Amino acid sequence: MIEINGKACSFEKGDTVLDVARANDIDIPTLCHLKDTTPTGACRICLVEADGANNLIASCDTPACEGMKVQTHSERVVAARKGILELLLSSGDHYCLLCESNGDCELQDLSIEYKADGRCLPETGRKSSVEDSDALILRDFSKCIHCGRCVKACNEIQMHDVLSFGHEEGSPKIFAGDNETLRESDCRFCGECVQACPTGALLEKKALGKGKVRDEQKVRTTCPYCGVGCQLWLHVRDDKIVKVTGVDEGLPNKGRTCVKGRFGYDFIYNKDRLTKPLIKQKNGEYKEAEWDETLDLIASKFQTFIEESGADSVAGISCARSINEDNYQMQKLFRTVFRTNNIDHCART
Ligand code: FES
Repeated sequence: MIEINGKACSFEKGDTVLDVARANDIDIPTLCHLKDTTPTGACRICLVEADGANNLIASCDTPACEGMKVQTHSERVVAARKGILELLLSSGDHYCLLCESNGDCELQDLSIEYKADGRCLPETGRKSSVEDSDALILRDFSKCIHCGRCVKACNEIQMHDVLSFGHEEGSPKIFAGDNETLRESDCRFCGECVQACPTGALLEKKALGKGKVRDEQKVRTTCPYCGVGCQLWLHVRDDKIVKVTGVDEGLPNKGRTCVKGRFGYDFIYNKDRLTKPLIKQKNGEYKEAEWDETLDLIASKFQTFIEESGADSVAGISCARSINEDNYQMQKLFRTVFRTNNIDHCART
């Protein structure tokens, strides 16, 4: 057992103090901590006071030990967190009013909660660049707090090993490859880094200038791209999807997405998208048709082929983008209705 804020809490070997607190609904703020990755211990915002320890300890990388007594919000802890937030605020350009992440920023939320003000410290004068060369992701280093969540997301969640900690002109910086732009690096543009970023340092370009975060609605859906069934949140502003994120607790992806799932939704709004079936006419032109007419035509064609040349004259290839149930029905149609085993699936190759 350990005691957190006077509450006795059980723990398993290997649990950190933060793990135990979260399992018992006890709030400890974090910034660099990213679920399902190894602790970074970089931001120190998760400091707590432990009986017998001279210094405050970082709860995210301190293992729980039998008999430990911890305070999560003592005066000393709260003052330390406020000081850390003020240092973070003064070390970058955190002008919330002008930031696209205004209203969706963990640094902003904590600064409000702890009444931290970046203006009480002299600005560092550090000039940071913006990397705007890529079509999907904007990197604004002036808002980076070097928490390393993007690095963990890239290396330990998606296993891409593209992002790393580094230094440039004496200041810490998150590097892509050998200090390349994302486009020049081996980045696969899964966007996991953007989803992990707690500030406005990493932004999805397609969401820029598309309304306010506070007016956003989130709609849960299943990714349309393959049969895996990843769970997604569609972020909707003014009836339009502006970005897509993974559902943290959703299986099978546990918050992750691939590049298509995260960024490939523009086709929904493409004016060339077919909304009705087209039937090719004798003169080669296509004519819009109703579904009943189209399905009758397809059925009659199959019937004719089978009657004239036998069941094995037809074959079906089902699609990896369809759901499992549809693929099952497709093979059922060919095997039991058409009476042929000529059925295959494009993902088999
Ligand atoms: Fe523990 Fe950052 S969350 S050090």
